[in-house]
Amino acid sequence: MQKLAIQGGAPLRGEVRISGAKNAALPIMCASLLTADTLHLTNLPDLHDVGTMRKLLLQMGITAEVAPNEITFNGGKVENWEAPYDMVKTMRAAILVLGPLVARFGDAKVSLPGGCAIGSRPVDLHIKGLQAMGAEIAIEHGYIHAKAKRLQGARIFFDIVSVTGTENLMMAAALADGVTVLENAAREPEVVDLADCLRAMGAQISGDGTDTVTITGVKALHGATHRIMPDRIESGTFLVAAAATGGSITLRETRADILETVLEKLSEAGAKIKVEGDSIHLEMSGRPKAINVRTAPHPAFPTDMQAQFMALNCIAEGSAMVVETIFENRFMHVQELRRLGAQIEVEGNTSVVKGVTHLEGATVMATDLRASACLVIAGLVAQGETVIDRIYHLDRGYEHIESKLSQLGANIRRIK
Ligand code: UD1
Repeated sequence: MQKLAIQGGAPLRGEVRISGAKNAALPIMCASLLTADTLHLTNLPDLHDVGTMRKLLLQMGITAEVAPNEITFNGGKVENWEAPYDMVKTMRAAILVLGPLVARFGDAKVSLPGGCAIGSRPVDLHIKGLQAMGAEIAIEHGYIHAKAKRLQGARIFFDIVSVTGTENLMMAAALADGVTVLENAAREPEVVDLADCLRAMGAQISGDGTDTVTITGVKALHGATHRIMPDRIESGTFLVAAAATGGSITLRETRADILETVLEKLSEAGAKIKVEGDSIHLEMSGRPKAINVRTAPHPAFPTDMQAQFMALNCIAEGSAMVVETIFENRFMHVQELRRLGAQIEVEGNTSVVKGVTHLEGATVMATDLRASACLVIAGLVAQGETVIDRIYHLDRGYEHIESKLSQLGANIRRIK
């Protein structure tokens, strides 16, 4: 199993290009199932999850021409409507094939995802939404089997805001008969990016980015070209790493408008931030101030940035409270941070972090994607060497992370 070894202490300095967003790329790749035509995607990040999704789509009969950071899908010959357990268990986002398959082919068989490290993460809202649109759904042998002659437009209210739930139903509704209204829909920028791609394919969607999305179904979608939006979580991760190490970095090809709460929190911590077009510059001098964080659906503070801010708070001046309201088990990084000398108390969904003047390098284990990013940040500030085990989580969501960090002056290497 591969590991990362980091010699901490070097402030991050320089420029880094931000990659395309994983959480936009995965649903948008599934949109290729909605058309018999060609979908050309650019700014596609080179990530393990993107590879897994491509493999799943190819297995269904989609054809793909691959170029660096680009892909051209063709959905003219899809003949297998099944997403097997082996793929869904490694990448929950595989559930995103369900809506497109049942909408276009009237039949889909997708494995239930099962649990994951950060919580139980059910998909009941995806299923209820499709049922409201007239799909007949049976759960058999661990699989969701959905059938429908043609989905019918419906009014669907989400009890809990769900990002992939909103995306799945938006794709299904694009080919349904009549109007679908999604209420209490997710407002995440990745939902808007998917809607932009679907509109380019001929879908009629409005209200994306608000909590009410209206989709008027059309008979067929056509081909399109779409550029994947920049990754706001990768952007935020580099900014926090620079702030934690007392560095000065510039992110290129990103967007400040999708990072508002994160930038606000970083300013509160004492960072100086300047936005110029698609660049964000951050400069930090001195020790960061501890900052309270409470995760909630967009536009509030993202759960995918909680672990990274926890790392920042570990070495901050003062104490901070970190509250996780989205996932029930997303403090797995706490025990690992304690191994580096962090002082953190956990009570239910709340962590209290008391900043210490320094962390000390140790061997730690990554438990999920964003927890891994948190450990990298902690390793970058810790004195001496930190070795992070199980970094395959990191490769699922961060493109070329060690080369990007090395380029910024970090002393980091991969042990194969
Ligand atoms: C997406 C993101 C993930 C991010 C999360 C929250 C992708 C590929 N992944 O995950 O990085 O951490 O949003 O911002 O975009 N829930 C239900 N029933 C459902 C669906 C969800 O109870 O049918 C619950 C979940 O257990 C969780 C909450 O709703 O507590 C939000 O989950 P959701 O927004 O669906 O997360 P994902 O879309 O899986």
